[in-house]
Amino acid sequence: MKHLLSIGDLGAAGIDEVCRLADQFTEVSKRPIPKVPALRGKTVAMLFYEDSTRTRLSFEVAARRLSADVMGFSVSSSSVNKGESLRDTVAAVSAMGADAMVVRHRSAGVPHQAAAWTRASVINAGDGCHEHPTQALLDCYTIRDRLGAVAGRRIVIVGDVKHSRVARSCVAAFTALGAEVTLVAPPTLLPPAVETWPVDTSHCLDAVLGECDVVYGLRVQAERQSEALLPSLREYTAQWGLTAARAARLSAEALVMHPGPVNRGVEIAPEVLDRPNTTLNDQVRHGVAVRMAVLYLLLAADPDPHPGVDAL
Ligand code: NCD
Repeated sequence: MKHLLSIGDLGAAGIDEVCRLADQFTEVSKRPIPKVPALRGKTVAMLFYEDSTRTRLSFEVAARRLSADVMGFSVSSSSVNKGESLRDTVAAVSAMGADAMVVRHRSAGVPHQAAAWTRASVINAGDGCHEHPTQALLDCYTIRDRLGAVAGRRIVIVGDVKHSRVARSCVAAFTALGAEVTLVAPPTLLPPAVETWPVDTSHCLDAVLGECDVVYGLRVQAERQSEALLPSLREYTAQWGLTAARAARLSAEALVMHPGPVNRGVEIAPEVLDRPNTTLNDQVRHGVAVRMAVLYLLLAADPDPHPGVDAL
């Protein structure tokens, strides 16, 4: 596999392979010196055109634990501010010898486009409302770790599905592995053509809570909403928030998940965040091992040591 642009690039077998490799990297991460030489001599560039805490830091930690060099790139202090095009930026980063580029951008399709302009491997770290494949992988890994398997689990994804790249990648990954997914959202926050997705839908969180193994909360993504799609945050929480009263109706084993960042008290009540089976910290921790697995899969078998230089 050359690039990771979408969960569809992996399929069920590929997701399983990433999870099995991540088991090994979880073991590496527990060592006193959590580092292996697997990617020594390789360079991983971070092209983040959109804000990030977890995804960016965990890709950086993952690359370093594999002994790769990391090239940082922050749009706010780069030539993008001087009007440089994405194509020229990708060419410059390629020319400096990047073997992989981790790309996040507010527009859907940018990582696919970047992949056409470089011989480096491109990893989609979130493109607009489209996909965020490594988030879905670390979520599969977390469910597998806590519940044994994703197959057969009943997973409720609740919130701003319409604008969520996390939801798109998670639906693809969870259903590929054989989970039953129900999307719950106000009618204005379900995506168009949702009836073509392999999921059930509901507008009522209370109606589906009792039966599920996982409740996956999505952030209310105000920055992606161009119109008023919600009456108010208070009304959102009253109907679709994971309040303490709703969490009390979950089975004791049921997981509460969220990709972060959380709007505390909007999607999830603070006391629900402290519940033992709320997995936000596990998800972040597993993100490092899963991203190590992805970088290893893309780069360790690469016969061309410096694809970017040849492209000059
Ligand atoms: C998500 C993102 O940026 O897509 N966060 C993440 O990567 N952990 C979800 C979000 O911003 O709501």
